[in-house]
Amino acid sequence: TSSSSSRRGAFIVFEGLDRCGKSTQVDRLVQRLDRDGHKARLQKFPDRTTAIGKMIDAYLQSKAEMDDHAIHLLFAANRWECAAAIRRDLENGITVIADRYAFSGIAFSAAKGLPFEFCLQPDTALPLPDITLYLTLPPAVASQRSAFGVERYETVAIQTAVREQFGLVANEVKKRHGDGKWVEVSAEGSIEEVEERIWGLLEGMISGGVDGRIGELWV
Ligand code: TMP
Ligand code: MG
Repeated sequence: TSSSSSRRGAFIVFEGLDRCGKSTQVDRLVQRLDRDGHKARLQKFPDRTTAIGKMIDAYLQSKAEMDDHAIHLLFAANRWECAAAIRRDLENGITVIADRYAFSGIAFSAAKGLPFEFCLQPDTALPLPDITLYLTLPPAVASQRSAFGVERYETVAIQTAVREQFGLVANEVKKRHGDGKWVEVSAEGSIEEVEERIWGLLEGMISGGVDGRIGELWV
């Protein structure tokens, strides 16, 4: 398996609780890659621009109510409608950076009490991230850093339950796909410090590209 001809873009996912600084870091990473002339694309989940995304947006803003199972499946459907474009970009050598992915889908729904196996199932065979960085912040630091917004799930009680579920998700990723696929990163410190911490973990993978086919989640 020689490497030179088969390099593709890296699929990098960021996960974490609400208000952990994730979106700030994702934006800075994409800006850095643009500056360096590296082809990269940001993909937010939920992608609120699609028809399904608009339903999710209404739910998150409490403008619409929905059965827990139904909204779970819509979040997953929102990823499936973006899956082909992610795969295509990776194959064309573009780095794809996702702000949340299936792991948020599981953690937030399981925190509401849906069975873990049910939560896992609809995302089966989505493009497998080459690495997921899970940004962590001690609860005391998080509560001082910034007030929660007004969206659904932005309460201390829910975030505490979600954190617990993310622990189970991490175990599942490591068990099924290997320890290196899920990496915890401390989000403590200045924006610049966290940015350098993240860059140190990703630089090799991004600049070198990735060898081999795109995997399938949970398969
Ligand atoms: P955002 O703040 O990153 O736009 O995410 C909106 C909220 O939706 C956030 O609280 C996490 C939650 N969420 C789910 O419940 N399921 C999912 O599949 C995703 C991607 C996000
Ligand atoms: Mg939010």
